[in-house]
Amino acid sequence: MGMRIGPLIAPSILSANFMKLSEELDFLKSAGADLVHVDVMDGRFTSNITIGLPVVEALRRETPLTIDCHLMIMEPLKYAVDFVKAGADWVSIHQEADPHLHRTIASLKNAGAKAGIALNPSTPVEALTDILDDLDFVLVMSVNPGFSGQAFIARSLDKVRRLDLLRQQRGASFLIQVDGGIDATNAHSLAEAGADCLVAGNAVFKSPNPAGAVHNIKVAMAEGRK
Ligand code: DX5
Ligand code: ZN
Repeated sequence: MGMRIGPLIAPSILSANFMKLSEELDFLKSAGADLVHVDVMDGRFTSNITIGLPVVEALRRETPLTIDCHLMIMEPLKYAVDFVKAGADWVSIHQEADPHLHRTIASLKNAGAKAGIALNPSTPVEALTDILDDLDFVLVMSVNPGFSGQAFIARSLDKVRRLDLLRQQRGASFLIQVDGGIDATNAHSLAEAGADCLVAGNAVFKSPNPAGAVHNIKVAMAEGRK
């Protein structure tokens, strides 16, 4: 495959201190984070409710970092473009939440965002075969969406490998993002399998040394990609 960018790390602010979000954003910038991952949950697609549009608008005013909104919501077409207007640079929607993926992806791209589709652990990567060429990225979930701090599902590695193979076979250029239970111990093998961008919540924000955690994950990824 041609050029590969990254490795990229996208800390998830779901694990950050919500009373001090602007300090957390400053920390992410100085620690070398590439994206700010924002986990949007609606209490229907997931059993949890988290962050919505007003918070994304506030983040946009405070940070120059790329804002990556992971929409774990039903009927994403209703809201997807609103997240772009609120300041999201990247937006992912769930394969399982939308019967009209092609339409929603087109509207995201028209609005100027990088558009991605996320897959639950039980959804095969082959479910995206007929839309892969339209995507800027694919998000492979390595936990069931809903909560931070869950254990990494090992089978996800094989999904990343299969997705990377599909990408090579088609000469496609979408990025592979992986999300859930990621830390410096699995970042190496994920990057080796083909991941370009890793999301990490607890491993960064619950670490006694958050800057060190960002650094260690980036180093592990860089090693894995060699
Ligand atoms: C899970 C979210 C993840 C999560 C990551 O539903 O999509 O982004 O916050 O948190 P950790 O890294 O703690 O699994
Ligand atoms: Zn996420």
